[in-house]
Amino acid sequence: MKAGNATLSSYGTTIFEAMSALAREHAAVNLGQGFPDDRGPLALRQAAAEFVVDGHNQYPPMMGMAALRQAVAAHDRRFYGLDVDWQTEVLITSGATEALLDCFLGLLEVGDEVVLLEPAYDTYAPVLRRLGVVPRSVRLVPPTWSLPRDELAAAFSGKTKLLVLNSPMNPAGKVFTRDELTFLASLVERHDAFAVCDEVYEHLVFGDAPHIPLMTLPGMRDRALRIGSAGKTFSLTGWKVGYITAPAHALRPITKAHQFVTFTTPPNLQHAVALGLGLEDAYFHGLGPALARGRDRLAAGVAALELPVLPCDGTYFLVLDVTRWLGSDEDDVAFCRRLVVEAGVVLIPMSAFYEAAPPRHLVRACFCKADATIDAALLRLQAWVSKQR
Ligand SMILES: Cc1ncc(COP(=O)(O)O)c(C=O)c1O
Repeated sequence: MKAGNATLSSYGTTIFEAMSALAREHAAVNLGQGFPDDRGPLALRQAAAEFVVDGHNQYPPMMGMAALRQAVAAHDRRFYGLDVDWQTEVLITSGATEALLDCFLGLLEVGDEVVLLEPAYDTYAPVLRRLGVVPRSVRLVPPTWSLPRDELAAAFSGKTKLLVLNSPMNPAGKVFTRDELTFLASLVERHDAFAVCDEVYEHLVFGDAPHIPLMTLPGMRDRALRIGSAGKTFSLTGWKVGYITAPAHALRPITKAHQFVTFTTPPNLQHAVALGLGLEDAYFHGLGPALARGRDRLAAGVAALELPVLPCDGTYFLVLDVTRWLGSDEDDVAFCRRLVVEAGVVLIPMSAFYEAAPPRHLVRACFCKADATIDAALLRLQAWVSKQR
């Protein structure tokens, strides 16, 4: 029998699947995969159900339903002051995951280089490699995840076609500052590159750190592409509705990719997400504070276990330094596996977000959970830690 594709075959099942399976086996509290306990706005769930029952179940327009594309453009104007033409600059996709693939398929050629910032969301590099593209990964430096500016400048070259920027950043919980974005924009412009901006956590920011789309910086309107996700903005991660805002010249080839990958996205979900994007400001501004309470609850609990937590200004995730509890010669993967079995709690090893030679003392914990879920995990961790002392 001939083998399947060698590049993809070389990757294992994602760590999220593997850890979630282990969680089920050991009835563990799952702070691994990033899905909220919150059920999402009832009005959206009802609208999606009614649209199906009312019989809107055939192929919607390829680029997305007009109401949703208009809602995306209006959202971008409302929150970021962007002037977006919904007909030529907005594409609806089946999740941010498809949006990313479409951008890569639509913009890249074999042999192009793409600059990635590590720790990186785990789909970027495998997909890029499968397309014959060369990822140039640059590591941000913990604990503050600062930009190694010289290394970044060196990673860009004449071959660089695009930068992938994920802010707010999974798994680091970092929200890039205007100063950092200005630096990245200067590299993108100097090297005549695009920036694919994965902004799925755009509304999940805490405290004083605002989310600033790279697209709003001088010189970036023509080079930056913004990707959003209804999954994150409305706590409906299973829906897989994503949206791309991009300059028309970049969106044209990306639309061709979408046409051949999924062609359309379920109409009832598009209809409901259009309603969602039109919700009042209070909805969007309430998301950060609600999540920040979960972050603080989890952070306070793990600090009491003598586990340092890294700063976190956005996303669903807190990074913990587990050096103190690592066994001799134990890495983060082995530690997380042992924790499921011995403590009944699932965390994600940060090495999953690196291509090579990852840090081995960091793990990611998800806090977009009900208080009871966080408390249950903390109780189990406390019991486990007291046995280690
Ligand atoms: C950084 C990042 N990008 C993209 C996605 C995928 O979003 P979607 O579920 O809309 O495909 C996720 C989901 O966890 C994510 O964390």
